[in-house]
Amino acid sequence: MNKWNTEEAIRRWNMHAENFTAKYTEEGDRSREVLLNPALQECMGLIAGKKVLDAGCGEGYLSRKMVQEGALVEAVDYSTEMLKLARERTPSAMGITYHHGNLERLEMFEDQSFDLIVSNMVIQDLAHYELAIAEMRRLLVPGGSFIFSILHPCFLTPQSGWVKDETGKKLYWKVDQYFNEGPLEQAIPYDQEEKLLYFHRTLGSYVQAIVESGLLLEGMIEPKPSAGMLEKYPHFREDLNVSNFLIFKTKRQG
Ligand SMILES: C[S@@+](CC[C@H](N)C(=O)[O-])C[C@H]1O[C@@H](n2cnc3c(N)ncnc32)[C@H](O)[C@@H]1O
Repeated sequence: MNKWNTEEAIRRWNMHAENFTAKYTEEGDRSREVLLNPALQECMGLIAGKKVLDAGCGEGYLSRKMVQEGALVEAVDYSTEMLKLARERTPSAMGITYHHGNLERLEMFEDQSFDLIVSNMVIQDLAHYELAIAEMRRLLVPGGSFIFSILHPCFLTPQSGWVKDETGKKLYWKVDQYFNEGPLEQAIPYDQEEKLLYFHRTLGSYVQAIVESGLLLEGMIEPKPSAGMLEKYPHFREDLNVSNFLIFKTKRQG
């Protein structure tokens, strides 16, 4: 049996939680600030007064941002180390409840508990992503939305990466082994032997899991840096060549 499963992914998140979030601000890391947050915000729309679940909350920056937008937020993560950081970084007056749990089965929540579920860069960490997507449908009220971002499965594949010339100049992004689904080590942390894990799947597999869960796929968003963000962080111009992230916007109909 492959020992790279959900439990092993979480063991590594526990190991690297502090390091991974060391440079986080209240906007998360730079990719979140430039690419993911603006796109997620647009997908979510107005959230004031909504019951929201941050599914795979990590150190909780997005939960805190959503509270500031007026949402009533509960959050869950499977890493005890991430939850420790989240609780330390969250003023109790924000009223966020942090739960320990695996998105593949969240028995602490009743059916139809949330108006909106957001999962930012988590679903690719799960061995049983289909279970988690079906579980999110169970937790939504009819008409509620499940929005999740992942590493873009068409560009972040096994053996993908920049091809460079002899001077180190980036020439183009190479994609390979797209249909080779399964667990992989990420490149980070660069200086550690045991890296973070994720599971590569094709775009078709994700769409199929959404369809089979009964959720309606409303949109797929590939976040791009805005002109304002490019002015602030010019090196993100590189992200106009390759899409690193993909956001699925789904809805529970009945
Ligand atoms: C890339 S981090 C993202 C954290 C946070 N959403 C953010 O954007 O900063 C992935 C998070 O997913 C959590 N996670 C991974 N697999 C999980 C699972 N099966 N159930 C719940 N959380 C999980 C990890 O512990 C980690 O905190």
